[in-house]
Amino acid sequence: HFPSKVSIVEVGARDGLQNEKAILSAKDKIHLVNLLNASGLKRIEAGSFVSPKWVPQMADSDEVFKGISRVKEVIYSALTPNLKGFEAALAVGVDEVAIFGAASESFSQKNINCSISESLKRFEPVIAAANTHKIPVRGYVSCVMGCPYEGEIPSESVALVSKTLHDMGCYEISLGDTIGTGTAASTARLLEHVCQHVPVADLAVHFHDTYGQALVNIYTALLYGISNIDSAVAGLGGCPYAKGASGNVATEDVLYMLNGLGIETDVSMEKLLIATEFISSVLNRKPVSKVANALLAK
Ligand code: HMG
Ligand code: MG
Repeated sequence: HFPSKVSIVEVGARDGLQNEKAILSAKDKIHLVNLLNASGLKRIEAGSFVSPKWVPQMADSDEVFKGISRVKEVIYSALTPNLKGFEAALAVGVDEVAIFGAASESFSQKNINCSISESLKRFEPVIAAANTHKIPVRGYVSCVMGCPYEGEIPSESVALVSKTLHDMGCYEISLGDTIGTGTAASTARLLEHVCQHVPVADLAVHFHDTYGQALVNIYTALLYGISNIDSAVAGLGGCPYAKGASGNVATEDVLYMLNGLGIETDVSMEKLLIATEFISSVLNRKPVSKVANALLAK
């Protein structure tokens, strides 16, 4: 049966904007985060402390964190692949950090320039430093249902990396369908495996909507008891190291489905759409979300 409440992790300001060709000003990013705040979202990934040579779109994340109007009950998080990133995040007072690994060796090399086992070694000091500062660490696993370089990825490999990150101290593991190739059937198969190794309450799903399957995959995940869902306002997003990957599932679409199921989220559609309209006008295009387009046309 479905969870009674779902925690939406809004990743638009990070996963979304990191893949936009246009580099937004820090001012626009700050305004976006403030509007997301106002919609009732409680978990907002607002930036990434990675190499600016790799992802120039996130180079001003420190400015963004310094500029946002913090709401006490909201958790503002950022990606930190190594100690350098962690220290930069710490300096601007992020509430939570995320390390990001992969279930595919080739993707790990292309995304973070090292093997899976090397990445796990690099994460150890980040987790240790975060523990010292009492900062929770989230762990992402990419390519859980396919890799742009290797194709199919065995669920066993995903379960192994997920369990390892969880055992290392990540309080939550976000399963990333980086290229959006998952289906309801492969989502079920994956969760059958992963749920045997990581408690379902500590799992999140992170779907990109490249093949239009994200909502049905999330519905499948809800049936497995998953209650943490990553999504991006206006369906922003993708991954610079995964060609053809389209945006994250749109927060508006997820919210509409959860509302329909009577699942609590704390998020106001009306207020979320203000953020949708803002970011769409900055990017000068329509939102990807069908729900947003339908509601904004009214
Ligand atoms: P590297 O080249 O192996 O690292 O990159 P390095 O330690 O040798 O450093 C190289 C240069 O980067 C040095 O600068 C460092 O100072 C700098 P240089 O001496 O050449 O001028 N550097 C940094 N600068 C700022 N902040 C840092 C940092 N670290 C090193 N933290 C590294 C390794 C991980 C740094 C690099 O590969 C990188 O930044 N990768 C980021 C890739 C990325 O952000 N990808 C997108 C996020 S993941 C994603 O989207 C998937 C997800 O959404 C889930 C899903 O959908 O699957 C999460
Ligand atoms: Mg992603």
